[in-house]
Amino acid sequence: MRGAMKMKIGIDKIGFFTPHLYVDMAKLAQARNEDPNKYLIGIGQNKMAVIPPTQDAVTLAANAAAKVLTVEDKEAIDLVIVATESGVDNSKSTAAYVSELLGLSHEIRTIELKQACYAATAGLQLAKGHIALAPDKKALVIGSDIARYGLKTPGEPTQGGGAVAMLVSKDPKLVTLEAESAYYAKDVMDFWRPLSQTEAKVDGKFSANIYLEFFEKVYQDYLAKTGLKLTDFSALLFHLPYTKQGLKGLRKALEGVDPTVASHYYNEFEASRKYNMATGNLYTGSLYLSLLSLLENTDTLKAGDRLGLFSYGSGAQGEFFSGRLQPNYKEALTYQTSEMLEMRAEVSVAEYEQIFSAILTDDHDRKLDISKDPAQFVLAGIKDFKRQYLKK
Ligand code: HMG
Repeated sequence: MRGAMKMKIGIDKIGFFTPHLYVDMAKLAQARNEDPNKYLIGIGQNKMAVIPPTQDAVTLAANAAAKVLTVEDKEAIDLVIVATESGVDNSKSTAAYVSELLGLSHEIRTIELKQACYAATAGLQLAKGHIALAPDKKALVIGSDIARYGLKTPGEPTQGGGAVAMLVSKDPKLVTLEAESAYYAKDVMDFWRPLSQTEAKVDGKFSANIYLEFFEKVYQDYLAKTGLKLTDFSALLFHLPYTKQGLKGLRKALEGVDPTVASHYYNEFEASRKYNMATGNLYTGSLYLSLLSLLENTDTLKAGDRLGLFSYGSGAQGEFFSGRLQPNYKEALTYQTSEMLEMRAEVSVAEYEQIFSAILTDDHDRKLDISKDPAQFVLAGIKDFKRQYLKK
């Protein structure tokens, strides 16, 4: 066990997928009679992912993982955890579908985890424990979600969707996870989705305040536990339900800090929110998309630098933990994200509304038009209550 404690375990690869469509936030603001700067600056989002009916939590997850897994990785994976609050079945796990679509071994554990946006962090910590006991194996942890609040609701500009897949292994190429972590849970009704609903219920302002309360609690607990201080971190990362919320968290951490010191953290934050600003809320994947955004867009971070990560899931659960950048982490990145985001097609507000309303609300037999969805994995329809997934 002592050997296991010394072992470096963490994130070896990160794959991200979001569908090929987006709506422009300035145009959405105009359509909702809002000042565009409310969405662009006040909320901090410039584009929002639009999710066609041919994509769901399963296909998003499979598309994200397929971007980074090699044959060798697939052979070594014996644990697949999919964190989602957009699951497609009350019994069967999203991970069971995803593992088959990816062609993974059958000598494997597959499970789904739920605790709002927090669950991928639980998955990461469970995977870390698994690799400590089985160092020659790899674990696949995916956060996959579609954020839906409803047309013309206050939450509408904070929708989005996509998936982030992380390969967890010993001697990872990107980030090692450090041992200490601080977590806090409390039964809070800030955001939830009753079983009968396809859109979340939310007490918006309350949820934003609870998020900040949880951040302060776990951040201070982490500092007290470890004896570390702000300047021991090279960057702070946040769950980004919309990027302004993370900025508010960062401002809390930087209260009373010398402006020249603070400006470094604000610069890294800009790198860490670039991809989230163009996608919207990913729920479980948001913090990890922000991590990918930082790794691909920072000009200053180097090997050994410590990152602090704040994970939050409504309901509510918070966790603050840390990771260290690995030598040559830049070379281990695929840099596919900017291109994927730029290749997307813009839809008008009217088209977005039509696509949003086309969500499957029952399990009747149907065939979906997959010809316009360029993704590798798609949902082709439903037959006898069974979802029909296809690899193109
Ligand atoms: P709202 O009430 O429409 O917006 O909804 P507002 O009036 O509060 O304005 C938003 C911001 O824009 C304000 O800034 C305004 O001042 C600013 P703030 O006071 O927050 O700093 N503003 C402008 N700025 C520049 N130029 C302008 C302008 N006009 C206004 N012209 C709300 C906002 C976030 C409440 C809503 O969108 C919502 O309910 N969203 C969903 C809930 C949410 O995302 N909560 C976040 C915390 S909970 C969480 O993170 C968990 C979650 O991811 C779910 C899970 O765990 O599964 C959500």
